[in-house]
Amino acid sequence: MSRITVRDIARMKSKGEKIPMITAYDYTSARLADSSEIPIILVGDSLGMVVLGYDSTIPVTMNDMVHHTKMVVRGSNNAHVVADMPFMSYQIDSTQTLTNAARLIQEGGANSIKLEGGENVAETVRRIVDCGIPVMGHIGLTPQSVNAFGGYRVRGRDCQEAIQLLKDAQTIQDAGAYALVLELVPTQLSGIISKRLKIPTIGIGAGPECDGQVQVLHDMLGLFTDFVPKHAKLYAELASTIQKAFSQYRDEVRNGVFPTAKQSFEMAPSVLSALTTQQ
Ligand code: KIV
Repeated sequence: MSRITVRDIARMKSKGEKIPMITAYDYTSARLADSSEIPIILVGDSLGMVVLGYDSTIPVTMNDMVHHTKMVVRGSNNAHVVADMPFMSYQIDSTQTLTNAARLIQEGGANSIKLEGGENVAETVRRIVDCGIPVMGHIGLTPQSVNAFGGYRVRGRDCQEAIQLLKDAQTIQDAGAYALVLELVPTQLSGIISKRLKIPTIGIGAGPECDGQVQVLHDMLGLFTDFVPKHAKLYAELASTIQKAFSQYRDEVRNGVFPTAKQSFEMAPSVLSALTTQQ
């Protein structure tokens, strides 16, 4: 089966079909998302927090992103795979930016890339798109700028920020992006942006009026227990299921209940007797 393309994604908006996207960071989770017919898988730099154990996305490197993108691509056949450009991989100069974007596509096997920012990255988006690499934008709360924002807070609640986000959204579309993530943006503002733009908006903590939604896999499955963000819905509570399984395993090993014959391998009686008579 061939993969979902940016044209398919554009068609979803024009037909009024809502677009589900989730993050995945390895082969197994990508297989599960792909076989559940999730059309877009994001290899998000959120892997810095939920997989690598950092307290932000800032330490994530290009090598981390390429490594995890390869796993996700191997685990999926149909989904469109988007890979995040990590912090400082697209800010220094255009040669480095294009080299890094190309790595995610050529080495990683991603179908498109995502980067954070509005007007300030419009020229960068245009350059990458001009090379034939589809770009998904990301505005609102852009976690790579957490130090500049002074925390993870909703963006666009006041008039000045809302006007800036409207400009950012338009500029990113004009620069050639094929979709735009809106993170932590008030519902009403996301509604206005989604109506104004031709390209689909994908929301996270941006209300139901976006053209699509994205959730971080570890949040929605209840795997990441350090904290549960308000924008996450727990579709499963796997942490407690896994902890229960681990505790049962621990007790069964301690009590000699595991393994049984079912998980063990027998030797032919003739080999056993030859072995014991030899000794
Ligand atoms: O890195 C990520 O998972 C993201 C989503 C929150 C959109 O960028």
